[in-house]
This record gives sequence, structure tokens and C-alpha cells, in this order.
Amino acid sequence: MKAYRAAILRFAPEGDPHQLAVFEDDGLLVVGPNAQGTQVVLAVGPYRALQPRFADVPVTHWPGRIIAPGFVDLHSHYPQTNVIGSPAEGLLPWLENYTFPEEKRFSSPEYCTQAATFFIAELLRNGVTTALTFATSHPTSVNALFTEAQKHKLRLITGLCLMDRHAPVDLLNQPSVRGGTDATEQSLLDTQALIARWHGVDRLGYAITPRFAPTSSDAQLRGAGELAARYPDVWIQSHVAENHEEIAWARDLFPTSSSYLATYADFGLLRQRAIYAHCIHFDDADRALMRDAGAAAAVCPTSNLFLGSGFFDYAGADRVGFQYGLANDVGGGTSFSPFHTMLAAYYVGREGQTKAGLSLSPQHLWWQHTAGAARALGLEGVVGNLQPGCEADFVVLNPQATPLLARKTALASSLDELLFSMIVLGDDRLVERTVIYQAF
Ligand code: GUN
Ligand code: ZN
Repeated sequence: MKAYRAAILRFAPEGDPHQLAVFEDDGLLVVGPNAQGTQVVLAVGPYRALQPRFADVPVTHWPGRIIAPGFVDLHSHYPQTNVIGSPAEGLLPWLENYTFPEEKRFSSPEYCTQAATFFIAELLRNGVTTALTFATSHPTSVNALFTEAQKHKLRLITGLCLMDRHAPVDLLNQPSVRGGTDATEQSLLDTQALIARWHGVDRLGYAITPRFAPTSSDAQLRGAGELAARYPDVWIQSHVAENHEEIAWARDLFPTSSSYLATYADFGLLRQRAIYAHCIHFDDADRALMRDAGAAAAVCPTSNLFLGSGFFDYAGADRVGFQYGLANDVGGGTSFSPFHTMLAAYYVGREGQTKAGLSLSPQHLWWQHTAGAARALGLEGVVGNLQPGCEADFVVLNPQATPLLARKTALASSLDELLFSMIVLGDDRLVERTVIYQAF
């Protein structure tokens, strides 16, 4: 058992989404193994109240620091680190001119390994302790990322990118080298083999990963849906309703589905543990489909602003009631920092405000990148929070990390002001350390 003394931020399991944060100015976080041997939060609360109960437990004291849940990121692309900041008129030319050429380089195992090493280090430097991310269409890219995540005991979910048409030929899933199995069938066999090898190993999870409907044949989507039914605790990830040209293309290719989103539902790819990136250009029928399936949106505001894709409609999502959480979407997204993502989400919410009178509160923004994102993944009470029983992944924030942060946070007279100061001014410098307790 071990205890940490500092200010502590955590979230109430339910209540008003704008008032969920629980903050101790001088708190104690007690960590130790549960019955299964997983290191979890055993107790948390005010130092003075808890200290007598844990008088024998060694305490690390971080005066002036804030312990907060490790961030949970719902969508990124580990092969796109080098693509950050590549300008394009919109999604489809960006994919063709920058993203696909970079992803082709992941046919090399060495290239995969160095990219995976950098990506995981960058997540941790920025305080992200749980991530759902894309790999490429090369099985070696999946193995490289899982291997690196396993070393750091990171909770990481990824999967082989399924893509059997409408992309450069050497980026499509490949047929079996010995022949006999075509590319589509092989991509599904590879998916199944990767599930068997990695899903549930340590803290790793598998996601069935059709890139987006336009780059998969009917047969590939159908096969992916069959795997999703066979492995109900495996995740699903894809993209939907990001960009008008993309939507028109998907509607053209799958004319019998009632919408782009409905295409995924028609192939059995909309269910709990399905995370769809973007979900911008939805109508209420789409929103209800998300809600009724228990699927969740990965909201990617830096990407949507950078690629000019549009603005996630928070008011619409809340009105109909489907789940969502935040994501960096590197390399369409511009930053690994959850603070940059939360600030961009705030700008996006402000855009919606003119229509719906909605403004995202700092507590709600933070929740979307921690406990809310964990809930979207079906990992509520497991990660993204520091309530008793949660896995003990946390960040230690230094609100004096820069002169401006120190000046501004010292003026905060409420929790909302403090959180907003960090969201607006924070970046990797605010994250003094990232603690994955399982590593000890
Ligand atoms: N849609 C299909 N592939 C991608 C991708 O790599 N990034 C984004 N932002 N959207 C996509
Ligand atoms: Zn993406």
C-alpha cells in the first residue's frame, strides 16, 4: 500500500454533468492491490479525515500539486504522428496526399517500432493513460504498438485497419502470401488472430477497425460485423459523418442504408463498445441510432477545426442522449495535449451556443476526457476516475509550471476558475508526472 498527499481532483459517478468534479485542497489517495492483485484506489478524501486510518502507510507528499485522473483518449492514429500539421482543402485530399503515403511506411517493422515508441512516450508525457488508437493495415503495426504499450503497462486498445478498396494498392489488406485466401478474407483472419493474441492480455484490448465505410467492401464490413458479434467485449472503432464529400461518397457506395451511420448498423457494427470518430453531420435519426445501440462518439475538436470538417453538435447529442468523449485524432488533430483538446472542445461548444444556449463548463470538459471517456468505452469505474476501486492511473499537475499559469491559477477563487485556467493555459508542461501504478 502507498499513499499520496496533494490536492486531488476526481468525479462523482452521477449528477449534473457541469458539477461532477470533487476537489480536495489537501487530499490523500491510498493505493494498493484489490482481490485480483490489480493496483487500485483503496481510499480517497481529505488528508485530515483519512490519515489516522492509514497512519502506517508511507506517504509521498507533493505540496502545491494536483493529483487528477489519467486522461482517456478515445481516438487517434499512432501512424500519423508525422502527419500533424499537413494542410489540405479537406479530409479526402489530406488522406490522399499526406496520410496514405505516411501509412505505407508501416510495412517496415522497424518503422512501426520507432513510431510506436515515440507515440506511447508522447501519450504519457501528456498525461494520457488510456487510449483507443488506429494502427495501419499492416499486422506488424498492431504488434509493434501492443508490444510497446505492454512494456509501459498502458491501457491501450488498437486493431488492424481494415481497408480492401479505394486506397493505394500497397495500403490495402494483402492476400495470403501462400495464396488461397483473398485480401478480404485474410484481413478477417488476421483480425481474429490478433484478437486471440492480444485482447485481454495485461491491460491491452482489441478493436475491430474498419477505417471507414468507403474503404471496405460489403464483404469486409459483413465479416467485421460477424467478428463483432462473436467477440462482444472487443471494441469497434471507425469514422463517420466527418466531412460532406466523405458522406456523399459513403451514401453513393451504400445506397440501401438509410444514412452513412446506418451503414455500420446494417453490418452489425453499431453496439456498445463501438466508438465512432467525429459524428458531426448527424440528424436526430442518427443520434437516436447511436443512443439505442449504446455506441459512443469520439469528439475530435482540434482535428475538426484544422481540417475544416465542422463542429460537433453538443446540444444535439445531449438532447437525444448518446454518449461521447474527447480525442486528439492525431494526425488530423494538432496536439497530443488533452488541455489543447479540451480548449478546442470549448471553442466548438461556443459555436453551438449561438444555436442552443449551451456553453461547456470546465468540469464537463475535463470529465469528457477522463470519466466520461471511460464510460464511453464501457470502462466506467475502471479508469478515468480516482474513486475507490478505480485503477490507479493518475497525473500530477503543477499549476506553477509556467509564469503565466502560476500567476493565473493563484487568482482562482473557485474550482471552475482553477480548471479553466489550466484548460486554457495548460500543455505538457503542466503534467509534472504520469503515474501508471501497475508499473510498480
Ligand atoms: N477518415 C478515414 N480515415 C481517416 C483518418 O485517418 N483521419 C480522419 N480524421 N478521418 C478519416
Ligand atoms: Zn481518425
